[in-house]
Amino acid sequence: MSLRERLAPVWWEHHAVGYIDQRRLPHEVRRESAANLDELIEAIRTLAVRGAPCIGIFGAYGVALLRASIADELQFQAAAERLRQARPTAVNLAWAVDRILASSDMLAQAHALAGEQVAVDRAIAEAGLELFGKGMRVLTHCNTGALATGGEGTALGVIIAAAAAGKKPQVYVDETRPLLQGSRLTLFELAQAGVDAILQVDAAAAISMQRNAIDLVIVGADRIARNGDTANKVGTYGLAILAAHHGIPFYVAAPRSTFDFALAGGSDIPIEMRAEHEVTSFARTAVAPEGSVAYNPAFDVTPAHLVSGFITEYGVLRPPYGDALADLESRPSLGALLAVRCASSERAR
Ligand code: MRU
Repeated sequence: MSLRERLAPVWWEHHAVGYIDQRRLPHEVRRESAANLDELIEAIRTLAVRGAPCIGIFGAYGVALLRASIADELQFQAAAERLRQARPTAVNLAWAVDRILASSDMLAQAHALAGEQVAVDRAIAEAGLELFGKGMRVLTHCNTGALATGGEGTALGVIIAAAAAGKKPQVYVDETRPLLQGSRLTLFELAQAGVDAILQVDAAAAISMQRNAIDLVIVGADRIARNGDTANKVGTYGLAILAAHHGIPFYVAAPRSTFDFALAGGSDIPIEMRAEHEVTSFARTAVAPEGSVAYNPAFDVTPAHLVSGFITEYGVLRPPYGDALADLESRPSLGALLAVRCASSERAR
């Protein structure tokens, strides 16, 4: 069974949407289900289900569930809108909800969307291979693997594919404060895939670039504006500045569904602000004096000029992004096509 099959983060359960509660990882792989709107929203807001493409798939199945359980049209539309807004930064959630709402068979469309993500991730992993020489030291941030996408992953999918292709990457993983997606989830996934990795605190990125000469940074994205400005887990912007300072290539791996062509630039991307206690406490123990005030944005925005390229299912896009992203917007969606190819190659195995 592949890593993706073993760690499928969300699935359809007829009267509910199933998910792995990612808050419990790496200690426990606990499977739960959300059976109504409040439970769907709770799972997304608490990051039990997380990662931009993954919350898109969860939202897609969520709309199918709401459709099956709410007969009144106005109530259904209002519920779908609340689900659409459960987290504001990753555009994949709104994109997926809108796509399901526009279809006649919502459940079939949600299954199609989930299948497409698998195929799109594979294409991203293939496209990213060209960046790897043998034994390169690659740094990543947050979690962008199977748990975050429902497929093989984006940035982490590229790294795991490079390892599988014999490139022997030396993988550095930022722990990713405050919720530790890097140490809890990325290290867990890399261990499951049999890929060695080195964990570092986020603040060590500067010295690891200076002393260990990291060769490459690859991260994921939650929303990319029309000009290439990229929202991703807080800390990504700092990494991009450090990479530029040290002359290290900085790549963003993301599917087309993460590009928001309606937004001109990064200042238009809504940034989710999260609860102060995520910063002022650690594993439920206070790590700041009572009453401390904390600033806790979940994401930051990396300006396009710091991005060496976007690894997409269409290949690696390079600057100038004005042209490359206009071209991306005008292309037909590859998801459905890739999903058919992926299913037939799986049948042939
Ligand atoms: O708050 P999270 O854990 O949902 O943040 C996730 C990220 O920032 C990922 O890098 C991004 O969603 C890309 S997942 C392929």
